[in-house]
Parts: sequence; C-alpha cells; structure tokens
Amino acid sequence: MVTATRAFGACDRETDVGDALSEKTRQRLLTLRRREARACQRCDLWTRATQTVFGEGDVGARLMLVGEQPGDAEDVEGQPFVGPAGRLLHQALAAAGLGRVPTYVTNAVKHFKWEPRGKRRIHVKPNTAELMACQYWLEQELEAVQPSVVVALGATAARALLGSAVRVLKDRGKWFETALAKAVTVTVHPSSILRAPDRESRDRAMAEFVRDLERVAKRLKKSTS
Ligand code: URA
Repeated sequence: MVTATRAFGACDRETDVGDALSEKTRQRLLTLRRREARACQRCDLWTRATQTVFGEGDVGARLMLVGEQPGDAEDVEGQPFVGPAGRLLHQALAAAGLGRVPTYVTNAVKHFKWEPRGKRRIHVKPNTAELMACQYWLEQELEAVQPSVVVALGATAARALLGSAVRVLKDRGKWFETALAKAVTVTVHPSSILRAPDRESRDRAMAEFVRDLERVAKRLKKSTS
C-alpha cells in the first residue's frame, strides 16, 4: 500500500492508494458512509435540519451531479433535488439526452441551512467552515462512485470540487482534472434559472444550461468509445 498526499479542492490530505476496489466493495462503502452521515455533527447545521440528505444513485454511475445543499423539500423528503430546482434539472437532463444515463446526484453540503421568514424557511448559503466540514462526505462519495464525469452545479459545488479560484460564468464549459475526478465541469445552479426575472431570460438561461449538459453528454460518449 502506497501512501500519497493528494490535493483536492481547498484541502490536502493523506490517502491510502492501493489496488482498485471492486464495485461491490465500493457499493458497501457507500452504503456505510450513507449510514454514518445520518449522525453527522461535523458542523452545526444538523441542529436545525430535519435530516442528513446524502447522495442518491449507485456506484458505477458514470455521471455525478453536485449541487449546493438540500432545499426545503429535500430536507423533508431526505433526497437531493426533489423540489422545484430538481424538476428543472431533470427537464434539462432529458433535453440534453442524459435522461437515461445512470447518475449519482448529491450536494456539497448535506444539511439544509435556513432561517425563518414568517412561516417559510429561507435558504441560507453555507459558509466556508460548513463547506469544509462536509468535504469529507463528498470525497467519500467520489471515491466510492468513481464517475467518469462530474458536474458542479453553481458556485458552492464548484468551490467544493475545484477550489475557490473557479468562477461559474468564466469557467463554465471548461474541463478540469482533480485527484478524485478525471473530468469535472462547471455550470449554473438550476435555482438561478428559476430566479430569472422574466420569461425571455429564463428561456435563454435554460437553453445555455442544456447546451452545457450536451457538452457533458458528448464527453461521456467520448469516455466510453
Ligand atoms: N438545490 C441544491 O443545490 N440541491 C438540492 O438538492 C436541491 C436544491
């Protein structure tokens, strides 16, 4: 077993690099990590969230999508991207020809961060400490799933996967390689499309999002041929 120091995102860490693990072992590891993450108290976000929302999908998924954090609906359901942003995401994936590609969907942060506004729970962006605390789970997911292509949806996911120098609008469509993922790209978060001020800008943003996902489909095709 060789020990190597690997740079990943904003943090360096010691990792054992040994023989490749079988898919069955990686699936077992993922199940174990999912179970462990239920009791996660690596930062304080667990105190106000209903539950940990771990990633969904299987080991061997060729595509991994990483969002920011669960929203209100995801916090209640315990699954990523099941609310309005998730519906838009699935619509865009289908439009880009990725609707049937085995996909692992997760978030950079696994607990919903919110503040009350009247009766509503309003999303609050996770801070750096919270992002760093949750980095452990994202690394575990990447190591277990070993996707061919990873897509960061929005700035928080881009930061978790690629570090703070990456900018969504400047870097969307480019490809990056990290210690844990051979092909990482960045696009907008689907919520930003839902927030577009009018129909015209929303349609334009959606078309650009689908175009980014079409590039992902092309890259996936290239990685199998
Ligand atoms: N937004 C995210 O980033 N992730 C979700 O799971 C839902 C909304």
